[in-house]
Amino acid sequence: MRDSAVDRLYLRSAIALAEKGLFSVTMNNPRVGCLLVKNGRVVGRGWHREDGGPHAEINALNDATEDPRDSTAYISLEPCCWEGRTSACTAALIDAGIARTVIAGRDPHPRVAGGGVRALLEAGIEVTEEDLSKEAQALNPGPGKRAEHKRPFVRIKTAISMDGRTAMADGQSRWITGEAARADVQYWRARSAAIITGVGTVIADDPMLNVRDQRFGNAEPIRVVVDTRGRTPPKAALFGEKGRVVIACSKGVEPIDRAEMWELQDGPNVDLPMLLDALSELGCNEVLVEAGATLNGSFLKQGLWDEMIVYVAPRLMGETAKPLAALGFNTMGETVSATVKSVETLGPDIRIIYTP
Ligand SMILES: NC(=O)c1ccc[n+]([C@@H]2O[C@H](COP(=O)([O-])OP(=O)(O)OC[C@H]3O[C@@H](n4cnc5c(N)ncnc54)[C@H](OP(=O)(O)O)[C@@H]3O)[C@@H](O)[C@H]2O)c1
Repeated sequence: MRDSAVDRLYLRSAIALAEKGLFSVTMNNPRVGCLLVKNGRVVGRGWHREDGGPHAEINALNDATEDPRDSTAYISLEPCCWEGRTSACTAALIDAGIARTVIAGRDPHPRVAGGGVRALLEAGIEVTEEDLSKEAQALNPGPGKRAEHKRPFVRIKTAISMDGRTAMADGQSRWITGEAARADVQYWRARSAAIITGVGTVIADDPMLNVRDQRFGNAEPIRVVVDTRGRTPPKAALFGEKGRVVIACSKGVEPIDRAEMWELQDGPNVDLPMLLDALSELGCNEVLVEAGATLNGSFLKQGLWDEMIVYVAPRLMGETAKPLAALGFNTMGETVSATVKSVETLGPDIRIIYTP
């Protein structure tokens, strides 16, 4: 008889190891942790540290303080079973003589999707699947979304007043919220592979859109400006920072120094589904939209969102100020509804996370 409580304990440690990759594994692969346990002692720990680097299982095997033969591997995700940029983790576990594996959830990647479990079973390795998929999923909303829909997981972030306003009529919006809320934004930026904004925000605010909080390591999300006609000022502050800058624009727009011009127009404006497809193709797992009412409105109306982070400041900005999203609805039937996922106080402000 296996003790499921013990399995879950070790598996939670494997998930905690996976979390160490939160800010360094933003592209292509999921964040994964692996713990090797032999005779009731942890003999190896590993996590996927960076895109293209060895997977968690390989790092745990390399970290082993004694021969891992006959140990149990606790892995936060089903191991991969195909040769990509690295060799298959199932093969490494089999070669190392692992006796048993306990996994927190199946890998939705079409080239794995149960194949990892099958390969282990065929090699005579016992596989236990504990359902900690909620915990594991919170770490990896992107790879699942990409596997199923070929789109990244999209978060919209916005700071609003009590009356739901995001900028004064003349464009001023600094600062609606306090320091704690603004510090929190750094966390969401750091775990994102890309940050998307609109040219209206670049012109009004000249934001850097980078990660400045050193606690998040060297996270450098790609910054994307949705800018149909190439109105982004060449001296915009985002060009002064390191990292990739993409201008999503229409065909024939004059190139801007230091920017990659992606021609993604299909209609009067930049085609947002095409943009998300391109970001997914590039390997972006999670993207953060930090834009004004116009671009927010497009993402919301087209249903192109998975989570919305709203910071509500105890301030009234009045009816001439700009809304959260330009939606132009006339009937209740058109409205966008959401479910509250969490509510938290951050200094003087409140952070509400919604899902569709
Ligand atoms: N409170 C907050 O959290 C927050 C955050 C960000 C910004 N802001 C404020 O928002 C204001 C700017 O808002 P905004 O509405 O003018 O700008 P925006 O939403 O950032 O950018 C809108 C522009 O993006 C371009 N675009 C291209 N394709 C699009 C598409 N498919 N859908 C929508 N837009 C598309 C359009 O310009 P083209 O047609 O030229 O391409 C459009 O005018 C500023 O005052 C800023 O301070 C507030």
